[in-house]
Amino acid sequence: MSSIIQPTHTDEMQVYIMPADQGEQERLDMQHRLIVKLFDSKLSILPISLKEGDRVLECGAGTGIWMLEFAAQLPPTVQIHGIDITSGLFPTSYPDNIRFTVHSVTSLPESWTSSYNFLHQRFLIGGLTKDMWKSATMEMFRVLVKGGWIELLETAVGGTNPIPRYSYSRFVAGGRFC
Ligand SMILES: C[S@@+](CC[C@H](N)C(=O)[O-])C[C@H]1O[C@@H](n2cnc3c(N)ncnc32)[C@H](O)[C@@H]1O
Repeated sequence: MSSIIQPTHTDEMQVYIMPADQGEQERLDMQHRLIVKLFDSKLSILPISLKEGDRVLECGAGTGIWMLEFAAQLPPTVQIHGIDITSGLFPTSYPDNIRFTVHSVTSLPESWTSSYNFLHQRFLIGGLTKDMWKSATMEMFRVLVKGGWIELLETAVGGTNPIPRYSYSRFVAGGRFC
């Protein structure tokens, strides 16, 4: 008899304080709708053109709402993979080209090196300490293919968030990495 071992991310779960329940699910989906409206209905502001067989990684997937809507705009052969430290908010039904796994962005599997064409991450400000941001950033670059894209969307709180300092709008940062 085999059993599935779910990785646990004790440090990350202690840092991230929000729950994974129905109320949080509703909050995240409403937040998503507001953000998309703010960005003129765009799910990504980068000039990306994904083609058949390309792979997308969504870090801190939450309810997966961004993935589900992004998938609807892409060829069905583009694979969209969502990771989160908890499966508590993952949706129960989704298309075949979407999958969810429990992983921390600070520590991704070695086998994922140079695997993803586009990496999207949104609102991890409350989930990562300064040191965790360093690990997460290094992991994101490691799993990205040469010429791939990274898009980070965060909000500034009290000027301590390292991401907005490098962004052109103090809100979103993105770029292509060759
Ligand atoms: C504020 S929610 C945002 C969810 C989604 N990105 C969105 O914009 O709707 C942050 C999510 O990141 C997850 N998270 C926190 N720390 C994480 C980590 N180290 N690695 C991956 N996911 C993490 C949380 O469990 C939560 O689902």
